[in-house]
Amino acid sequence: MSSDFIYGQDLASVYEKLTRMAGKAAEADDTAAFLERYSSGRSALELGIGNGRVAVPLSERGVKVEGIDNSDSMLKLLANRNNRIKAWKGDIADFSSEQRYDLVYCVYGTLTLLFRREEQIACLRSAAGALHEQGALVIELRVPALDGFVSRQRTSTTLVDHENTFIKAEVHEPLQQNLMSTLLWFSGTSVRRYPQRIRYVYHQELDTMAEHVGLELAERWGDWARGAFTDMSKRHVSVYRRASL
Ligand SMILES: C[S@@+](CC[C@H](N)C(=O)[O-])C[C@H]1O[C@@H](n2cnc3c(N)ncnc32)[C@H](O)[C@@H]1O
Repeated sequence: MSSDFIYGQDLASVYEKLTRMAGKAAEADDTAAFLERYSSGRSALELGIGNGRVAVPLSERGVKVEGIDNSDSMLKLLANRNNRIKAWKGDIADFSSEQRYDLVYCVYGTLTLLFRREEQIACLRSAAGALHEQGALVIELRVPALDGFVSRQRTSTTLVDHENTFIKAEVHEPLQQNLMSTLLWFSGTSVRRYPQRIRYVYHQELDTMAEHVGLELAERWGDWARGAFTDMSKRHVSVYRRASL
């Protein structure tokens, strides 16, 4: 993947603020409670572990969590927070693991940060290979929200307060299912830019990609509290297991 989109020091330094704004910090415990059920209290591997938002509360529940991330800055945040979780630098689109885990998980839309279809499939294949026979792969993805684009462009204001204005500018590239965005953060006299490219995926395509690597859908929920996935859902939590022969 392009190094342009690796989370750098700048983004890592505001990651906690951004996850709080998105409500993702507040739901970390619910996420960990959900995941604990699938790890049987034993071993888990997080793909794109970041600052340990989920890995830390999951390990506090007694699960031995390990993780992969391609950002030194994010790995440093994790290490500063917790030195018991083993995490290493690697690309989730291209990894192999000798160890087998009860649970492999990839949350917060991280799979879509792999912005080519082949990379997403490669990631799922490696994840499947890292599972114990009875293990589970859990993926959290947003339902693609493509409303509001005009001439393939969309701009939205994500936060305004006395000190900060966050504006997101996006361009849609439908042939690649890519959204190229830049988050612009104005504060005081400074403007910071955080570019990102994602490849959005509908749940049915995710199922097809998973089937392609020998997995099958076991459960699908609309949130971490196991609410129903409906046509109003903004995201899904999908649980895959090895396909029965
Ligand atoms: C949206 S953040 C999620 C972090 C964490 N999983 C959480 O839920 O808070 C995405 C994370 O994936 C990492 N990441 C993105 N692309 C990656 C890749 N190709 N290989 C490994 N890590 C990647 C980023 O550095 C970042 O830490």
